[in-house]
Formats: sequence, C-alpha cells, structure tokens
Amino acid sequence: MARRKKLYEGKAKILYEGPEPGTLVQYFKDDATAFNAQKKDVIEGKGVLNNRLSEFFMTGLTAIGVPNHFIKRLNMREQLIRQVEIVPLEVIVRNFAAGSMAKRLGLEEGTALPRPIVEFSYKDDALGDPLVPEEYIIAFGWASQQDLDDIVALALRVNDFMAGVMHGVGIKLIDFKIEIGRVWDGDFMRLIVADEISPDSCRLWDIETGRKLDKDVFRQDLGSLSDAYTEVAKRLGVLPTNV
Ligand code: C5P
Repeated sequence: MARRKKLYEGKAKILYEGPEPGTLVQYFKDDATAFNAQKKDVIEGKGVLNNRLSEFFMTGLTAIGVPNHFIKRLNMREQLIRQVEIVPLEVIVRNFAAGSMAKRLGLEEGTALPRPIVEFSYKDDALGDPLVPEEYIIAFGWASQQDLDDIVALALRVNDFMAGVMHGVGIKLIDFKIEIGRVWDGDFMRLIVADEISPDSCRLWDIETGRKLDKDVFRQDLGSLSDAYTEVAKRLGVLPTNV
C-alpha cells in the first residue's frame, strides 16, 4: 500500500491518513517499550502478531455489539480504523492484583479481586500516566460523568468478552488497558473502543502453569516475548503464517 501522510508516531504504532475522510491507517511497529520507554527493544514480528490479535479481539467485540474503531485489516502490519478523538485516559480493568495495583496496595500478584475494578490514568508520558480519580477527570473536563458511566460500562463488557475468550484457551485475564475514542454521528457523540487490544496492553497468565504470556515477559526479562505472543495467537487460532 502506498505510503500516506504520517499523522502521529507513538511507541508501538504509527497512524497515517486513511483513504476516506474519517479513517486512519494504523501501523503496528516491532518496537517494545516498558517503564515509560526507559526500557526499549525491537522484537521481530511483534507488530505482525499484535495487528492480527487486535483484529481478532476487535472483530469479536463488534460481533457482540461493542462499538470499536476497527474497520478491516489491510496487510500484515496495517489496519484501517475509524478516526476518533481519543479521550486522554488509560482505562484499566483488573480481575486479579498485579503490576502497579499489587505494588500500591502490597497485594501478592494473582490475588483475586472481589469484583472487576476499573481505574483511570491520565494519558501523559511526561508524568508517567498518573492514576486519577473520577473527581479529577470531571473537574478538568477530560470526560463528563455520563461519559465515565458509559466508559465503565464499555470496559466491563470488554472485560467479560476478553476473560471468556481467554478462559476458553486456558489463559487467565489478569488485567488490561483500553483507550476510548469519541466519534460523531451528526450532533450525536458516541464513545467507542480505540487504539489496540493485544498482549502489549493485557496481563495474560497460563491457567495451568502460571506462565506469563504478555508484555511482563519483556518488562521482567522472563524470556522470549515473541514466543509468548505467538503462543497466545496459536491458541486463539490467529497465527499469521509468515511470522
Ligand atoms: O502497570 P499496571 O499494573 O498499572 O498496568 C495495568 C494493565 O494496563 C497492564 O495490563 C498493562 O500492560 C496495561 N498498561 C498499558 N499501558 C500503560 C499502562 C498499563 O497497556 N501505559
């Protein structure tokens, strides 16, 4: 596909102008970063796997009526998506304690939470995406109370879908992050799932062995990240043939 105008380059993806107004092309890079890009590497084939996996999850969400930005996959590394205005929040859903929550509350990793917990971080690399309460989000105008109620409802539907799909292939969904975008149909604003859903933004543990199959493999130097992501793709039956 001919190169289009680059609109934005992030740590793991590039956004190009799309072929139609209101569309973008999302390109998945092989770059892996952790700890707010203090740790970096290039993991060959990661972009191909995440393009395929994000397609798989977004398509499944569409099938159960959860609105999202995915239109179609274009090639091994690119997908056509709806252009959205990103809500400047990382929406995190947790089923088991891990990562920053385990650290903050002194909980052992893997402790089951009494119910799924949705939390928000303010998207700002320079600040390290700080955790923010709803009060801040509303006071600073990042989203309204109605938006937040809708975002929590969306996030919990994504959680039910992802946890079920993962359980079906022997994987425990510990937590994940999604981003939400605004789209307008005339004057009517809708919130949809945007960005990506991939092992870069989830914690996935093998149910039998506890083996980590997500970006913690890179964060914690636990072995081959591409082996872990390939295992997830294989179990879901979405392994690209030429990785
Ligand atoms: O680090 P923490 O425990 O807060 O992360 C919760 C979940 O959100 C993890 O699955 C992590 O991969 C994801 N996350 C992310 N991008 C960030 C922060 C967290 O995808 N900037």
